[in-house]
Amino acid sequence: MKNILVTGGAGFIGSNYVRYALQAHPDWHVIVLDKLTYAGNLDNLRDVAEAFKGRYTFVRGDIADREVVFETIRQHRVHAIVNFAAESHVDRSILNPDAFIMTDVYGTYVLLEAARELNVERFHQVSTDEVYGDVPEGRSTEDDPLKPNSPYAASKAAAELLIRAYRVTYNLPVTITRGSNTFGPYQYPEKLLPLFITNAIDDQPLPLYGDGMQVRDWLYVMDHVQGIDLVLTRGEVGEAYNLGGENERHNIDVVRMMLAILGKPESLIRHVADRPGHDRRYALDTRKARALGWAPRSDFESALRETVEWYVNNAWWWRKIKSGDFKEFYRRQYAERLAQAQ
Ligand code: NAD
Ligand code: TYD
Repeated sequence: MKNILVTGGAGFIGSNYVRYALQAHPDWHVIVLDKLTYAGNLDNLRDVAEAFKGRYTFVRGDIADREVVFETIRQHRVHAIVNFAAESHVDRSILNPDAFIMTDVYGTYVLLEAARELNVERFHQVSTDEVYGDVPEGRSTEDDPLKPNSPYAASKAAAELLIRAYRVTYNLPVTITRGSNTFGPYQYPEKLLPLFITNAIDDQPLPLYGDGMQVRDWLYVMDHVQGIDLVLTRGEVGEAYNLGGENERHNIDVVRMMLAILGKPESLIRHVADRPGHDRRYALDTRKARALGWAPRSDFESALRETVEWYVNNAWWWRKIKSGDFKEFYRRQYAERLAQAQ
């Protein structure tokens, strides 16, 4: 039996990964360590807890809490750590960067210390294409410099630099994946697609930043988790791998496609004041991950359709979220923008 610690496993990509990993590896015991912040949600793992009793354990705790981290790794004799735990939303990092430094930077440091002292066999970091910063043309390769522009991206880049240092200094067996913009079921409705899908279902306005001509490289969550799993099990120690959807689209085109699927009018779109420091474009070169045997296999339109259908059929999941603390965030982030929108 292999014991795998998945931090942040109650979030969007983490919970999809846990579900996938338990199916793909019958000899794995998965221990989720999650603080259950506003973005963490045990509803995301409800089916997993039922289907994989005996091979799945949930521990509520903070990756920045040394005692909890060391105790969990010792108690469960952890072989590998897959670190999803992070504050993950750019707009929140602009409103208040504090938690980003505490979790994404300091929390990663605590995990690295534990991995080093307790001889964990592999530390895998789930990172992002945002560490490369704005990419006006071409595609980022893994050796490109890290030039993050938002507090979120800077906190993820800082974590990567620590990981590199632990590899070089202590010979810690690390791997990194840099995923592009991910979408699919269980994504917290603050990110572009789940926010806009759920607003559109309710005929609410869609606050599109600036001209909507920013480019993101969209990756279906199933492709993303398969890439993470492949790098964890077959990637070369010390290496970083880009996981891109090879699916670059302007935001406005993604929103229009979503509205067409949902049968809602484009008049819901409002052009609102842009995000400060907004990166215009991300794009990843995926040759290195492809050489390992990975590829983004999903067709974008079908995956978007499945995602839209999931939100339509699972209103119980997102209505609970949108009726809570989320309202205060939405007001802070959008009330003035929407009032001033043309
Ligand atoms: P998410 O916000 O949905 O989930 C984050 C999870 O981490 C939540 O369950 C939360 O409770 C937990 N968490 C936060 N702080 C914690 C702490 N201090 N200790 C323990 N748990 C904590 O995020 P996501 O979109 O699933 O992203 C997961 C990872 O993937 C992040 O590291 C993010 O940087 C990275 N990533 C995300 C995307 C994307 O498009 N969403 C793309 C590339 C990489
Ligand atoms: P987001 O989902 O926040 O991901 P990221 O900032 O990590 O790329 O945003 C995706 C794109 O959509 C990004 O260019 C910002 C834009 N966007 C809007 O136009 N309006 C919104 O309300 C949100 C949340 C994002």
